[in-house]
Amino acid sequence: APTPAFIAGLPKAELHLHLEGTLEPDLKLALAQRNGIELDQKTVAEVQATYEFNDLSSFLAVYYPAMEVLRTEQDFYDLALAYLRRATDQGVRHVEMFFDPQAHTTRGVPFADVVTGYHRATVDARAELGISSALIMCFLRDHSAESAAQTLEAATPYLDLIVGVGLDSDERDNPPRKFADTFARARELGLKLTMHCDIDQVGSIENIRQVIEEIGVDRIDHGTNIVEDPSLVAVVRERGIGLTSCPVSNSFVTDDMKAAEIVQLLHDDVKIMINSDDPAYFGAYVAGNYDALVAKAGLSLDDVVRLAKNSFEASWLDDDAKAGYL
Ligand code: ADE
Ligand code: ZN
Repeated sequence: APTPAFIAGLPKAELHLHLEGTLEPDLKLALAQRNGIELDQKTVAEVQATYEFNDLSSFLAVYYPAMEVLRTEQDFYDLALAYLRRATDQGVRHVEMFFDPQAHTTRGVPFADVVTGYHRATVDARAELGISSALIMCFLRDHSAESAAQTLEAATPYLDLIVGVGLDSDERDNPPRKFADTFARARELGLKLTMHCDIDQVGSIENIRQVIEEIGVDRIDHGTNIVEDPSLVAVVRERGIGLTSCPVSNSFVTDDMKAAEIVQLLHDDVKIMINSDDPAYFGAYVAGNYDALVAKAGLSLDDVVRLAKNSFEASWLDDDAKAGYL
């Protein structure tokens, strides 16, 4: 069986990682102090004690308020660089990282400070650590379609710093179709498209159908319940649409790691791979997610190698760069 040492040493890409979800308690405390913010929590243990959630909405209720400590360009830089160091230590060679500008601009943080701080970290990480990284700008789906359109407009001076757009936050009553215009515009601007499809209830297969047939996404974030519809599984296999799965996150947000679905899709030749989602909150970076899945599903060495290979194949690197990793 693949050991943790083998998994950590295996070159991997990470394609589903929220930068704001990498805010570790010690960095949260340090940023609060630097910015003169009085937190209710004074120790790492007290911050960790606030991490109580058992579904997506209870998670998001902890997640957004924690971001108040992120104020300056340097804060965003420090957050991203800390993650990129940890990822490098876990064998990650390339990462496509989500960020949520609306979670900051709605608090009065300038859009430019968010995107330039994160981007500066990608440049320094490449030079100092050798890791390649790119940014995916997410829209908050529980905000209006107009707000998403305005956020894309705000990003137009920075398009060279962003590889694609995504859609996250609370999926209930916020279907993909709500953002069809902004995603069509993003595609015209040359950006790649992905969306979270992770609600765990009867009928969520409809959102997966919308992202494939109406939005025309290049990837789907989560989306493992696509197994409910074999005809959609065939479509993602044929089009090479990647599924970014996050087993440890699943076990918090849905009470089920979705290990059986992940293995089935892997063996069905779907480009599925393993990611950490919000590792500071769910307690596992990418290698820990592989380890958890191996322990639960008894994956073979071949399975693990295939997952890592899929992570590069489903990435938005150009073909030459991909070939260098495969
Ligand atoms: N934002 C950060 N993590 C998320 C998740 N797992 N689902 C939806 N929105 C998120
Ligand atoms: Zn996510």
